[in-house]
Amino acid sequence: MQTNTQIQDTLSRPIRDLRISVTDRCNFRCTYCMPKEVFNSEYEFLRRDDLLSFEEITRISKIFALLGVKKIRLTGGEPLLRKNLPILIQQLSKIDGIEDISLTTNGVLLTSDVAKQLKNAGLQRITISLDALDDETFKNISDVAFDVDKVLTAIENAQTVGLDPIKINMVVKKGVNEHSILPMAKHFHNSGIILRFIEFMDVGSTNQWQMDDVFPAKEIANVINQELSIEPAEANYHGEVAKRWQYKDGGGEIGIISSVTQPFCQTCTRARLSAEGKLYTCLFATQGKDLRHLLREGADDNHIKDVISAIWKKRNDRYSELRTSETVLLPKVEMSYIGG
Ligand code: GTP
Ligand code: 5AD
Ligand code: SF4
Ligand code: SF4
Repeated sequence: MQTNTQIQDTLSRPIRDLRISVTDRCNFRCTYCMPKEVFNSEYEFLRRDDLLSFEEITRISKIFALLGVKKIRLTGGEPLLRKNLPILIQQLSKIDGIEDISLTTNGVLLTSDVAKQLKNAGLQRITISLDALDDETFKNISDVAFDVDKVLTAIENAQTVGLDPIKINMVVKKGVNEHSILPMAKHFHNSGIILRFIEFMDVGSTNQWQMDDVFPAKEIANVINQELSIEPAEANYHGEVAKRWQYKDGGGEIGIISSVTQPFCQTCTRARLSAEGKLYTCLFATQGKDLRHLLREGADDNHIKDVISAIWKKRNDRYSELRTSETVLLPKVEMSYIGG
């Protein structure tokens, strides 16, 4: 009989969220995430055998649930590239203690059939990435030939099947798409969809990040406030990543994620599992702990639980609070590998 054990790290942060990357591949080449110069035909993606199977992911998620995890987010790369994903969602939704299952996608594979299958399998909500409304800016960033319409259709498909709430992630990079802030805000105003603006971050080591390319959260709020009045709103839960704002005219809410200019490490309860089964305790980590060999070499659940527990209890990550011009250059894992 397995027992629940609530654990905390060295900064008294419990473990609440598990973000699972199901593939390191993507059908986009966003310049801030998978620049084509690096992620080209020469790049070595994980092999099929390297990936955790759905059974392995489910087993490990059950163990995380015993340690306090309540929310699971499936990520990639692009998670909808993984075959039969609804089967995994079905398995995860049966785990005792998991209250929330969500998915982050770029949307182009989210047909109405796929949306239905995901919803029926137990997916509760979805986050879709969209960085601009005009094709030119959108293609400039995603660096592939898909049109914005494809993503807008995906959003409709998610709405039709009742995935709720739907959130939209827009990464804002200075000089690239800050002109899209207002059009995006106006488009989603009054729609019931929650648009979130994300500061461009120094994840990985291939996106040529510089502080000068960050369009700060404060300025994002100012740009919107000039045309659509907003006021701060209460957080939905302790440790929410996005700072919530609501339109004064009742037109809904937006979120701003200010990882660079106003870090939120003090309340970070997120663990990340790569597609090959490595555990990372920070988005900006340089190294993870391989759990796959434990799964594949006959370790029992109690042992795996003890290993994860020991890692979490030692955790002292707070990268965004400590960011300097030196840390930016560290060989951090790529976001396409670890998940967003
Ligand atoms: P919910 O509130 O559960 O909907 O999720 P969320 O607000 O955490 O949103 P989501 O999981 O979609 O994360 C949005 C974006 O915030 C990610 O794509 C990342 O860019 C960023 N983000 C999420 N978690 C972290 C984190 O732990 N550290 C940092 N620095 N950024 C994060
Ligand atoms: N900075 C901020 N957000 C990023 N994402 C990917 N790379 C970066 C970055 N360098 C976001 C994407 C997507 C999510 C998976 O992570 O926009 O919404
Ligand atoms: Fe793919 Fe998302 Fe990275 Fe863009 S941000 S390359 S859609 S994983
Ligand atoms: Fe958590 Fe690391 Fe992000 Fe800080 S930088 S919020 S510790 S993932």
